[in-house]
Parts: sequence; C-alpha cells; structure tokens
Amino acid sequence: MLSGKTVAQHNSRESCWIIVHGKVYDVTEFLDGGSKIILKYAGKDATQEYEPIHPPDAITTNLPPEKHLGPVEPDTVEKVVVEITDEEKARQERVSNRPSLEEILNLHDFENIAKQVLPEKAWAYYSSASDDEMTLRENHAAYHRIWFRPRILRDVTNVDWSTTILGHKSSMPVYISATALGKLGHPDGELNLTRAAAKHNIIQMIPTLASCSFDEILDAAQPGQVQFFQLYVNKDRAITKKLVQHAESRGVKALFITVDAPQLGRREKDMRMKFEAEDPSVVSKSGSEGVDRSQGAARAISGFIDTSLNWNDLHWFKSITKMPLILKGVQCWEDALEAYDFGVAGVVLSNHGGRQLDFARSGIEILVEVVTKLKEKRGLTFPNEKFSLFVDGGVRRATDVLKAIALGATAVGVGRPFLYAFSAYGTEGVEKAFEILHDEFQMNMRLLGARNLKEVVPEMVDVSNLQSHVVVPRDDLYGNNCASVSL
Ligand SMILES: Cc1cc2nc3c(=O)[nH]c(=O)nc-3n(C[C@H](O)[C@H](O)[C@H](O)COP(=O)(O)O)c2cc1C
Repeated sequence: MLSGKTVAQHNSRESCWIIVHGKVYDVTEFLDGGSKIILKYAGKDATQEYEPIHPPDAITTNLPPEKHLGPVEPDTVEKVVVEITDEEKARQERVSNRPSLEEILNLHDFENIAKQVLPEKAWAYYSSASDDEMTLRENHAAYHRIWFRPRILRDVTNVDWSTTILGHKSSMPVYISATALGKLGHPDGELNLTRAAAKHNIIQMIPTLASCSFDEILDAAQPGQVQFFQLYVNKDRAITKKLVQHAESRGVKALFITVDAPQLGRREKDMRMKFEAEDPSVVSKSGSEGVDRSQGAARAISGFIDTSLNWNDLHWFKSITKMPLILKGVQCWEDALEAYDFGVAGVVLSNHGGRQLDFARSGIEILVEVVTKLKEKRGLTFPNEKFSLFVDGGVRRATDVLKAIALGATAVGVGRPFLYAFSAYGTEGVEKAFEILHDEFQMNMRLLGARNLKEVVPEMVDVSNLQSHVVVPRDDLYGNNCASVSL
C-alpha cells in the first residue's frame, strides 16, 4: 500500500500521480487537453473533482494496468480542503428554502429554481449556449410564432396522448434527450432520469458523456424499460465500435449519432466559469497550453470527437449494428433528404439546444421545410413509420409538443428542463416534470379538440409567421412568471 506522502511527491508534469476513490493512478502520460485541472490535483486526492465529470470506470478502462499503482493508506492522505465560501453558504440556504414540489407549476419553474440552487459551475455548463446565445433564445421563441386553430364541439371526455416512438410505446410524444455530466447537478446524475422515466414510461436517451457509467444507467432501468443511446463518434473507431456493440448487447433500442458537433461550440458562460475557478498557479506550468485554459467543462471532455465524420461512415455504422440509426442535429431539408436516401430510421431536427452554431434555426422551423420538401421530392407524408422526424430545442410546454406533432413530428426531445428538475429536486423533480406535462397534454388536447395524436393535424396550427425571426431581448428568456426561492 502506498502512503499519502509518497503520492504527494509525484506532483508535477514530469511525474503526476492522483488518488481517485482510494486508489493511486499514474497519469503522467495522459496530461494533454485537460492537464491543467489534473495538475491541480497532482499528488493529491482528486476524487471530488473527478466524480461529476467522469463515469466511475473511465480511469480504469482508459489507463493501462501498469499505471494502476494500487490503494493508498487512507489516513496518510492529506485532505483536500474545500473552502466553504459565503456564496456557497448562501447557496446551501437557498437549497433548503426552495419551494415544495407542489408549488412548481410549469417547466420554467424548474429552470428558475435550478438557477438559484445549482453550484455556479453546473449552472454555467447546463444553461450555456454558444456565442451570443441567439439560437438558444430562438429555440423557444419560434414556438411563440405558431398559433392554434382549435376545433370545437367534439366529445373530448377521453383524450389519449400516448404514442409509439421507433416502435416502442411511450406515455407521451416526448423523450429525454441526451445531456452530459448529470452529476454536476445531482449526486445521482442520470440515474434520476432513468428512475423517473421507468415510472412514467418515457424513453431516455443515454449520453456518451454521462457522469454515471453506461452500465450503471442500464442496470438502474426496469425490465422492459426502453432506452436509446446518443453517440459521439470517437476518432478511434475501435472504441466507437465497442461502445455501440455493447449498447446493442445490453438491449438499447436505437442509436442517435450526433452530427452537429465536429467541434464543440464556444459556450462562453461555461468557459468563463472554468477560467475563474481555475487555480492560476498551474497555468504557467502547462507551457504550450495557453490557449486551452478557458475551455470550460464542455471542451475539457470532448477532444476525442471525430471531425472527419461524413456520410460514407453511415455504411460502417450499418455494418456494426442492427439498431436503428438516427442522425441527431440535422438542420436543413437537404440533409434530411440525404439521410432518408441513406436509409436511416430518422433524424432529429436540432441545433443541440443552441450550444453549437449560433444563428442555426430552430428545429420546429426546419420541421416545416423538411415535411414540405420530402413530400415534394419523395412523396412522403408524416408522421411516417419508416422515417421518423424528431425535433428538439426550447420545448417547455405540452403546447410546444402539440405544435410539433401537428406539423408531422413523431416526438420531441427535451433536454434542460429535466436536468433542472433533478438538479433541484432529484428523481421526484423529474417525475413532477412528467406529471406537469401530462396535465398540460390533457387540458390542451381537450381545448384543441383532439382526442388522440392522429387528430392533431396541420390544419390546427397557423405557421404563417414562423419564418420571421424576431430577436428576443437578451434578459427576457424564460424569465417570467416563475416560482422563486423565498428567504
Ligand atoms: C447540459 C447539456 C448537455 C448536453 N449534452 C449533449 C450530449 O452530450 N450529446 C448530444 O448529442 N447532445 C447534448 N445536448 C443537447 C441535447 O441533447 C438537446 O439537443 C438539447 O438540450 C435540446 O434543447 P433544450 O435543452 O432546450 O431542451 C446537451 C444539452 C445540454 C443543455
């Protein structure tokens, strides 16, 4: 067994050992993009920093066995003192004073509470979007430009908003979209989503960059619970192949390949936060890495993504898996048509929650052109069992979902609201979010005069104004009419 004192001597770029969960690892050869943060913990216990960002098995699978140096004598390890600042104390007070779940009335409320109770770093990572965050605003604002044309005098005693997504039953036309780093917001991370999804029969899309390990998330699922997998394609295709085939062998039902992120967008809120949180004393030691210092949580974890990914690779994906393939991040009808011609099972019209190309259009706007053009070019009508159209970004109300359904979507993905729900209230928060959506579906379908989703038709929406892009004032996003912490 190693002593803490021995480990502490390996505290430099030349020899860098760290302790994670009581075990010592030699990471000297792995000091690259994320070096600065690793060097900060050189010779020390890095568990606290490591935990939210990496699944438990990441270090053991990525480091060769000879770099696993064995356990450390616990009593000899110097504690990493985490200073509790006044700000942190105030945050903890806000956590204990947050409103009860009964007081939460809509999905915006979760965002407002999360903003007040999340550690700053987590809020920055979750809420941030690229550049001036114009696409982030537009994602929700676009729904404000679609208005309803409801029908009356239909017997709406019984309304049913359940549906089928890629052949799997779902209690509503909504799935949990993949969002990385769940443990930044809550110690149970993505498991909160898995558990709540099981209770409500909602499909969860598991992210490549989850904080919990893939198998932990699968193990937390109930028998028969449907899960999809979101894939960031690794430059090392052997790793990707292993991941995909493992997912398939564990019963994952569909593979969503993210195609809008050859490089991650500049999420400045996230980057600035990381920069401030960083210990400046280690910056100078990193020599050539001056440019890397303010990259934020997102970039720190994404260096492996393959920038060369292209259409031809789809043949390879088809050869390594039988799971249906869906392209996540399609942004114009031309690419949707190409995807259809390649024989994939569907596309997600998405701009990654505004986190990639700023001024990319909203998914809901793209949906209208995709439906029009695929009808014109290939005679397709939607929803279509052979080629599903999904939309995500800015969905906060059942009315948003119903607009997408009316326009031909099979289902919509929701990202941040569920993250905010579990960050503030754990699994129960996510369940509450589903209950809110169920209530909204019931009321809105009755008021719309639709008894099931088939009756939610294009004639029920007016999209004549959808393409006029109005700039939303900067500070007015999702900010009104929200519950708030009272002290
Ligand atoms: C914090 C966060 C992390 C995300 N991580 C991923 C990811 O790892 N892979 C991916 O394909 N999309 C990722 N997304 C995008 C979501 O899957 C989804 O497209 C987006 O959140 C939808 O917008 P919404 O948050 O407004 O609902 C992330 C989004 C957020 C907010």
